Amino acid sequence: MPNRDRILLRGAKLICPFSGLRGETLDILISGKRIAEIGEGIECAEVFALDLSGLYLSPGWLDMHVHLREPGREDEETLASGRLAALSGGFTAVCCMPNTDPPVDCAAVAEEIAARASEGTGADVFCVGAITVGRKGGRMVEMDRMRSSAGRVVAFSDDGCCVQDAGVMRRALEYARRFDGLIIDHCEDHALSSGGQVREGPCSFRLGLRGYPSMAEEVMVARDLLLAEHTGSRIHLAHLSSARSVEMLRAARERGVRVTAEVTPHHLFFTDEDVDGLDPRFKVNPPLGSREDREALRRALADGVIDAVATDHAPHSLEEKEVEFERAPFGMIGLESAFSACCTALLESGSLDVFALVERLTAGPARALGLDPRLYGEGIKKGARADLVAFDPEAERVVDADDFLSFSRNCPFDGMRLKGKVELTVKDGKLFFPPGSRLSGSIGEARMGRGRACGSVADIGCGAPGADADDV
Ligand code: DOR
Repeated sequence: MPNRDRILLRGAKLICPFSGLRGETLDILISGKRIAEIGEGIECAEVFALDLSGLYLSPGWLDMHVHLREPGREDEETLASGRLAALSGGFTAVCCMPNTDPPVDCAAVAEEIAARASEGTGADVFCVGAITVGRKGGRMVEMDRMRSSAGRVVAFSDDGCCVQDAGVMRRALEYARRFDGLIIDHCEDHALSSGGQVREGPCSFRLGLRGYPSMAEEVMVARDLLLAEHTGSRIHLAHLSSARSVEMLRAARERGVRVTAEVTPHHLFFTDEDVDGLDPRFKVNPPLGSREDREALRRALADGVIDAVATDHAPHSLEEKEVEFERAPFGMIGLESAFSACCTALLESGSLDVFALVERLTAGPARALGLDPRLYGEGIKKGARADLVAFDPEAERVVDADDFLSFSRNCPFDGMRLKGKVELTVKDGKLFFPPGSRLSGSIGEARMGRGRACGSVADIGCGAPGADADDV
């Protein structure tokens, strides 16, 4: 009988920014939850073998910015559905933002999330705690108590809102400095953005909608870079959308400010011209920018001034999102379209190569967060956790939101033909095949004793919540 705990992944091209692999074709033997061996032509009896030739294999990706809506809006997403959606998109770890109900502004809420997120199959979840109580911008949370709790709190942010009072932000940065903590900054001056629907400019004028000026982001980027420089604290700029912001980030980095940044797939892919049809799925905060903004973001990601791609996955219910543009909430889901959006926007245009893209999905965010490699970032090496993703950057897919494992459907990529497909995610040694994976047939073959694969593997997820080998 094949050993149900051993899996041989054959013939993939390995990419690992942590261990320096750049496309070498090697086999990987997984035993239990860990990588047991890496080498050429590994021969091994009694294993489940999967042929990955033609595919790349990298460490599972880390999305440092998602909204999983639990507690409070479990109709839009739960920790369980979000963690499966993450695996489906190639992410084996995510950081969830604190704008839940109740918000993550004390250790008890973070601990509850961590406990719920440890049940069943799915991506690892880390918490981003709020900066201020209730995310109201006033009294600071007990950061130290939160970070040393069992709540897996790795950074602090009032995301969804921006701390408007510069004095509060300064104190938050100073406090975080004491334990070298990270503040994640949703940069928005609410007085400037108030009532804004789309990026202020030719498109907002043409559509007759209230503009949200890029300045609303830029003044906070400027303020917080100065505050971070003054306090010597680590700051991370979330979902950057403007060329001016990128310029300030670049200059601050050159001065040695301890700043990192992320960009979303939608800001790399779309522009404000895409909002022309007034489809509320394109309504997002910060709003989609101009072509110049998009070009600056792509360039900054390519040269490493922007460290990470992060989805800002923001599920919303159909009833709330599919209304007139001005009444719809901001946000779009992204976990299950991110990789295709990035391949199409970046690899096609030659902005980035596949190695740089994988870096911005793995080591880049891990570095920005300063994560302990035991939590994320051991890379592909003997003894490391078997958290991996196999993908084809050239394969085409038509995005079908009905296939998503997220509970929500507010995805502007729905129906688009894109390049780049995740074919397999391995989490703690278990195989997970996203819906539509060309590899999922190999399980059937394995069960029927055909092909090179032999035997069955326990706990194989197969694109359906709760499915395991016995359901396949
Ligand atoms: O568009 C957005 N939606 N931007 C945010 O900052 C928050 C998010 C949400 O929670 O819906």
